[in-house]
Amino acid sequence: MTATPAPDILSPEFAADPYSSYRAMRDDFPLLWHEGMQSWIISRYEDLERAFKEPVFTTDNYDWQLEPVHGRTILQMSGREHSVRRALVAPAFRGNSLQDTFMPVIERNARLLVDGFRSRGTVDLVPEFARRFPVTVIADMLGLAPADHEKFEHWYTTVIAFLGNLSQDPEVAAAGLRTRDEFAAYLLPLIAQRRENPGTDLLSTLCVAEIDGTRMSDEDIKAFCSLLLAAGGETTDKAIASLFKNLLEHPEQLAAVREDRSLLPRAFAETLRFSPPVHMIMRQPAEDVELGGGVVPAGSTLTCLIGAANRDERRYANPDAFDLFREDLTAKTAFSAAADHLSFALGRHFCVGALLAVAEVEVGANQLLDAMPDLALAEGFRPSEQGVFTRGPAALPVTFTPVA
Ligand code: HEM
Repeated sequence: MTATPAPDILSPEFAADPYSSYRAMRDDFPLLWHEGMQSWIISRYEDLERAFKEPVFTTDNYDWQLEPVHGRTILQMSGREHSVRRALVAPAFRGNSLQDTFMPVIERNARLLVDGFRSRGTVDLVPEFARRFPVTVIADMLGLAPADHEKFEHWYTTVIAFLGNLSQDPEVAAAGLRTRDEFAAYLLPLIAQRRENPGTDLLSTLCVAEIDGTRMSDEDIKAFCSLLLAAGGETTDKAIASLFKNLLEHPEQLAAVREDRSLLPRAFAETLRFSPPVHMIMRQPAEDVELGGGVVPAGSTLTCLIGAANRDERRYANPDAFDLFREDLTAKTAFSAAADHLSFALGRHFCVGALLAVAEVEVGANQLLDAMPDLALAEGFRPSEQGVFTRGPAALPVTFTPVA
């Protein structure tokens, strides 16, 4: 019997500092039942690795977690249905398509935002860059009118709130469902137009994609685009903000990256490990499974704490230190399914947008560093993280000398 009480992931103490609770869970409660969430919780690296890789851990939990707001998406699918759907969408997010078609979109959107504050000498990087950049990139990739980007940002906020609604607030749930209807009313006519007159944008690519005679239905495309709002917006937003928080809090590492920009992927990989944008994802075992020293029953919900596993001292030396030079994290594979951090998950549902995320982070970070050569945290400001399901800095006010 352990004397210390089990940490409560819905408590204010946990929200303020999840990392000490994560350590207590890894050490003393590797398999924990949470009554309020009606979920089992795991926190050790080796247990999460199994939960992501072994097919017995299904993603059926997304039927209730995501389907009400997005419709049915690839996250819920398995087997051939999943592999065909994934093959239909994946090529748009890698290789030539990413480099030739979407890189200019990423660069343009970063520049537009940086131009808004480059002569000012101060900026809060969270609201003025990190939160806006990925969502405008996705809207622009899809070929949506710039005038609609604001609508997109609003939908994105309500969808994220719905997904992170661990305490089931009814107003948050209702706003998520309203967004589902508004998004469908907005996108379905555009899908019809693109089917008639396809262009080179992502929405057209999804309309014409075909694998083994299978094409995506209008509903499939709408659901996928809705998923992109959350999967590609919120996550990359937190990733960019956390990268800058980590570097600003470690000025010697910031100086090293500024000097040698080829260190950016290492800094990003370590940011993903140290401060993952998504702190938890869920799974639903199809059968009773032995895990974490107990048995997780078939059909139950299993919460996998990525934020805890990425700091497992059984896996990483000195895990609570941010160190882009650490040797137990391989930057080369950090953005592929062979990654040795868990922030993009592993296995069949490994993040389809990982390479897009790296492209956005690299372009964004390079442009920010160029525009702000002596970037530093605003005087007296100490950054703090916010969020339990997804997590990142709430604000990041900085000062800099504008480049003439
Ligand atoms: C740093 C940024 C990102 C992080 C940390 C992240 C994280 C994740 C995680 C943890 C999963 C697995 C979910 C699960 O297995 O339950 C996932 C899947 C996914 N991500 Fe990302 N993501 C990021 C960026 C993006 C971007 C930019 C896109 C946009 C294209 C994207 C699209 C997706 C999609 C479509 C899936 C579902 C894949 C499947 O089910 O096969 N993500 N992501």
